[in-house]
Amino acid sequence: MRILGIESSCDETAVALLEIDDFGKSTVLSSVIRSQLDIHKVFGGVVPEVAARAHVESVIAVLEEALNGERYDLIAVTNGPGLMTSLQVGVQTAKTLSYVKNIPLAGVNHLTAHCLSPLLSNDIEWQNKAMVCLVVSGGHTELVQTKDFINFELIGSTRDDAIGEAYDKVAKLLDLGYPGGPIVSNNAQTGDANKYVLPMPMINSGDYDWSFSGLKTAVRYLVMDLKNQGKLDEQAKKDICASFEKTAVTVIAKKVKKAIGDLGPELLLVGGGVSANKYLRQSLSQDYLSVPVYFPELKYAGDNAAMIALAGWFSRQRADLNNWQTLKVDPNLRLAE
Ligand code: KG4
Ligand code: ZN
Repeated sequence: MRILGIESSCDETAVALLEIDDFGKSTVLSSVIRSQLDIHKVFGGVVPEVAARAHVESVIAVLEEALNGERYDLIAVTNGPGLMTSLQVGVQTAKTLSYVKNIPLAGVNHLTAHCLSPLLSNDIEWQNKAMVCLVVSGGHTELVQTKDFINFELIGSTRDDAIGEAYDKVAKLLDLGYPGGPIVSNNAQTGDANKYVLPMPMINSGDYDWSFSGLKTAVRYLVMDLKNQGKLDEQAKKDICASFEKTAVTVIAKKVKKAIGDLGPELLLVGGGVSANKYLRQSLSQDYLSVPVYFPELKYAGDNAAMIALAGWFSRQRADLNNWQTLKVDPNLRLAE
């Protein structure tokens, strides 16, 4: 079957066409992502009203480019979580297509799609396997387990900031630009990760939860101190990036290792914007975790519509022709309870 995926939850307008067989082996026929990065850069973050307008202006062109007149059997669209008005653009576009063309429509949880994104590479034997998924994105840091890829059970999550948010804030404190993740990560490559000792919040809390706001505050004070002493030069910034990255990723890896040891899943999937991070990929290795670990291809780590189409395939039984009447946008949609 062919699935049209539509994603507009934040600042990327994305449409993809996925061909997938009965066993879940897929081919991405097209995946178009139009980023609003340049628009939001000036503001140092995503401005919701501006984002929604940009989605409205580009959604049909992106659809046209991805579809190129091809047919499809199911429409999958992100209906949460995300920015209310941004989500509305994708959902209303999907509903219109579903209504006019009489094609079933499936609402997709953006976080579920990040979880499943590694499965777009077809070399994973996932059928009937118990697995744990880690979502590391700009708005979420969550650890869940699942057996059926539709229902997820929450194992752990951040109590405050998401990991991507922490990266973005560190970049802001150091005046490095937006979005911070890739910039901090690049700077960290030539920095000394042992130069500054930062707190590892909740490292010994005995659960699978995280907290990143204390770490962010520690970086803020460190930056202030160095500034006051006239020592915040390029190398100091790189050392801060490296020390922050090492600290944040170490706490993530430790908790994931504990969860895997306690719960004994057969594999780990990692998804979300921060799953593109090199240091995170090295730290969450199969050697360290003693379980096969899968990451998405880099082009499917950040927001994209191929992962939405794939998640739509898993919930295809729930899709129906009347969904255009009933499907609702939920900005606070949760991955699991
Ligand atoms: O999944 P995503 O594209 O959007 C959300 O659903 O939030 O994630 C965006 C986040 C941003 O915070 C960005 O700074 C971060 O992912 N990010 C990274 C890297 N690439 C993107 N963080 C660390 N290292 C990276 N290489
Ligand atoms: Zn995302």
